Amino acid sequence: MPVTIGALRESAPQETRVSLVPEVVAKLTRAGARVLMERGAGERSNFPDSLFQSVDWADSPTRVLEQADVLLTVQAPTVEQIGLLKPTAVVVGYLQPHARAAEVKALRDRRVTSFAVELIPRISRAQSMDALSSQAAIAGYKAVLIAANQLPKFLPMLTTAAGTIRPAQVLVIGAGVAGLQAIATARRLGAVVEAYDVRSATREQVKSLGAKFVDTGVSAEGTGGYARELTDEERRRQQEALDSRIAAADAVVTTASVPGRPAPKIVSRAAVERMRPGSVIVDIAAEQGGNCELTRAGETVEHQGVRIVGPVNLPGQLAYNASEMYARNLLNFLQPALVKGELAIDWGDEVFAQACLTRDGEIRHEPTRKQIEG
Ligand code: NAI
Repeated sequence: MPVTIGALRESAPQETRVSLVPEVVAKLTRAGARVLMERGAGERSNFPDSLFQSVDWADSPTRVLEQADVLLTVQAPTVEQIGLLKPTAVVVGYLQPHARAAEVKALRDRRVTSFAVELIPRISRAQSMDALSSQAAIAGYKAVLIAANQLPKFLPMLTTAAGTIRPAQVLVIGAGVAGLQAIATARRLGAVVEAYDVRSATREQVKSLGAKFVDTGVSAEGTGGYARELTDEERRRQQEALDSRIAAADAVVTTASVPGRPAPKIVSRAAVERMRPGSVIVDIAAEQGGNCELTRAGETVEHQGVRIVGPVNLPGQLAYNASEMYARNLLNFLQPALVKGELAIDWGDEVFAQACLTRDGEIRHEPTRKQIEG
């Protein structure tokens, strides 16, 4: 029996992405799998059903959930949906282990094998599966476009018959995957860009994109290529050096995050009050609590003439490409386990072993297990 790979029309309110796109479905069916999708699954990301070939369509999510050997999702399935899965099913998606205790417990109790894309190790071999990176790059790009739209100014320098227009100053805080894409996008649009990160390795990356690196004298490399949380003294030094750069910026894009921690607060109320009226902050970390003290997730706050935008699900605002990239990430993850149309997971492979969240009635990701089971 070929493996049945299922995809749903995502039910989370702001989710516009889909986990399978036509190109990826074609590769899965060529590999011998059967693909079963809920009707209209790709509609909100501009992949109408008519674009998919060799798909079995289901009129309800129930049929997909009951028949799928592998369920590919964007957001975690709901507790009710998990209850409909076969106990032998495999689920792959953004399962948000830190934030979704009820869903993780339901996956455990249903005895399904689940993989959280967030847990896929960030090793060279797994780059093509790295959904955190593909979606972060989209967020960085979109954040700059939001800033450009909100600003009452041009980004590029313009020489016109009405005189010369000075280019906008953009400051990017956090130069990881999202931040680097934000820098590149702001540069392409002609802004003068400065950027800052606590990892000193980013200095050269920032410069290679044509931006100036802001040196605060604070360096905070953590483990696994990530940043660590700053001490109070480091935070004070960072603040002193950054505040004048924030005040000089027309647009600030903040992307800073520390794994497993709330987003670091970097832009204070006082710093916002030093910005010129009409300036904009786009806080990509809004969903993790925000890098700016005034950010409210899902809202645009105006404070003394400065707009602070706290977008949620930025990749969902570019749903076509976000779905395309995400579906390719999932395919690259799953492909080694698809052997002649059947599923054979090699548990000796560190990618599968580390990405595994639940299996055989247990939570396999130790930090999540501790958080949920104590
Ligand atoms: P992230 O989303 O965890 O954080 C974003 C950025 O915020 C990071 O660059 C971090 O250093 C910075 N940050 C944290 N606290 C800060 C503070 N107080 N002030 C200023 N900046 C702060 O990071 P992301 O984008 O997921 O990437 C983190 C690392 O992982 C990078 O070294 C990246 O190159 C590496 N990576 C490796 C991959 C691979 O080898 N497959 C794939 C993608 C990323």
